[in-house]
Amino acid sequence: MTPADQQAELSALVRALRDHVEAERDLGARWFAAAAPVPNAPSTAARVRSRDIAAPRPDRAPPVAASAVPRARTEAQVGERSATGAESAVVAAGTLAALSSAIGDCRRCKLAGGRTHLVFGVGNENADLMFVGEGPGRDEDLQGEPFVGRAGQLLTEIITKGMKLRREDVYIANVIKCRPPNNRNPEPDEIASCLPFLERQIEIVRPRVIVALGKFAAQTLLGSATPITRLRGHWHTYRGVKLMPTLHPAYLLRNPGDKRLVWEDVKQVMAELGMSR
Ligand code: URA
Repeated sequence: MTPADQQAELSALVRALRDHVEAERDLGARWFAAAAPVPNAPSTAARVRSRDIAAPRPDRAPPVAASAVPRARTEAQVGERSATGAESAVVAAGTLAALSSAIGDCRRCKLAGGRTHLVFGVGNENADLMFVGEGPGRDEDLQGEPFVGRAGQLLTEIITKGMKLRREDVYIANVIKCRPPNNRNPEPDEIASCLPFLERQIEIVRPRVIVALGKFAAQTLLGSATPITRLRGHWHTYRGVKLMPTLHPAYLLRNPGDKRLVWEDVKQVMAELGMSR
């Protein structure tokens, strides 16, 4: 190794170490130790949690009666579309389980052939808070669950260490449900095929706040071409639901110095949900 190579390697090591220390500082000092609980007072996170599972929110649309949810789709039904272009079985699905079964072993776009698992979504059907990402990566494709790889671990830290919630308190989904080859960006026809599923997931969960993770989630839900760097940090509305765009965890893995921006956005979300830090 030449002296120049050694110098380059040393610089790379110093850079990596600095990024790591900054990441630990941002995550550790701010997210890990963020909330000092008030003695004997239920934390707001606990209150957010205690509202969970099956407690219907008064402002929720009544669920579609189970009898109205088709148990199995005929070939003809698969092709039936509503005025918005979504299939009738998707529109009729009143629960996430019914929606998942309406989607079935999806072959509606060209991503179907390359997937291991369709990654539907995970979490609390009655969540106040919903995270929407771009689409499954390798780990998600293999495990069938969103945000379980490295970017997912970072999202989990934001939820658990930053917000003091559990992953199962929130709902997590993606714009597209199948992994694109080599994790390439989703293509417009793939987004168009999959979007009705996310739209219905949001209608069923009816979160109070959506956090759109990264450019694809934010731009797709907002129907906007504005860069994520300008969208993030400001409140938007998706069909009456407050939506906060923020940077994607995968971006944060490459740019840990920007975690502080995400923390700013997360603090706004916590304030909106009445959560203390
Ligand atoms: N990135 C995403 O956008 N979604 C996942 O589920 C995993 C990584």
